Amino acid sequence: MDLKLAELPALERYKLLIGLVIPRPIAWISTRSENGVANCAPFSFFNVFSEDPPLCVIGMNQRSDGTMKHSLKNIRRTGEFVVNLVDEATANAMHVSSYEFAEEESEFEKTGLTAVPAALVQHPRIAEAAACLECRLYKLLEISDTRTLILGEILLVHAREGIIDPKTKRISEELYRPIGRLFANRYCTTRQRFNLPGELPEK
Ligand SMILES: Cc1cc2nc3c(=O)[nH]c(=O)nc-3n(C[C@H](O)[C@H](O)[C@H](O)COP(=O)(O)O)c2cc1C
Repeated sequence: MDLKLAELPALERYKLLIGLVIPRPIAWISTRSENGVANCAPFSFFNVFSEDPPLCVIGMNQRSDGTMKHSLKNIRRTGEFVVNLVDEATANAMHVSSYEFAEEESEFEKTGLTAVPAALVQHPRIAEAAACLECRLYKLLEISDTRTLILGEILLVHAREGIIDPKTKRISEELYRPIGRLFANRYCTTRQRFNLPGELPEK
C-alpha cells in the first residue's frame, strides 16, 4: 500500500505516523509558570539530535482550545526547561500529567509528584524521575500557526544514584527501565533486549 500524505486528512496522517514510528521516547517536560506553579507534561515527538552540540528536539501543537501549551509558554518566557525521562515506576503519573489542567493547577499536586530544584536552570525537575536533562533553549522553529519545534541544548544530565557508572559513563540496564510511547494510551517497556550476532565487514 502506498499512501500519499498530501491526500490524507491530518488525523489519518497522525494515526499512521505515530503508529509506524514506534516506540518513541518521551520528554516529560517540567517548567514553572509565571505565577510559580510547577507544571509537567509528556511529549513523544521527541528525541536527542546530536552530542556536539548536545541537542534534543521536541514537537508541540496546541491545547485543544487552540491556546499555547503551558510548557511552550514557560519555555518561551524563560528560555529554559527540564526533560525528565520516564521509566516504568513513573509511567502512570506521566500519563495522568498529560491531562489539560488549568494553568493554576499543578500536575505535580494532581499526581503526587515532587518538584525539586534543578542544578542549572530555574525550573524544577521531577524528583521521582530516574534521570533528567536540564536544557537551555537553542532555537524555536515556528513550523506553522499550530506547530512549534523546540531545539534544546542539554546543559546537565542528572540521574538517580547507580544509573550511570561514574567511570565508564555506561547506563545500567538493570536500574534504568525506560518506557516508550506507542499510540493512544499504549506504551512498551524496554525489557526484551538482544545482541545481533552478525559481524560487520572490516574496512
Ligand atoms: C505519551 C504522550 C505523548 C505526547 N506527546 C505530545 C507531543 O509530542 N506534542 C504535543 O504537542 N503534545 C503531546 N502530548 C499531549 C500533551 O502532553 C498535553 O497536551 C498536555 O496537556 C500539555 O500540557 P501543558 O499545556 O501543561 O504543556 C502527549 C501526551 C502523551 C500522553
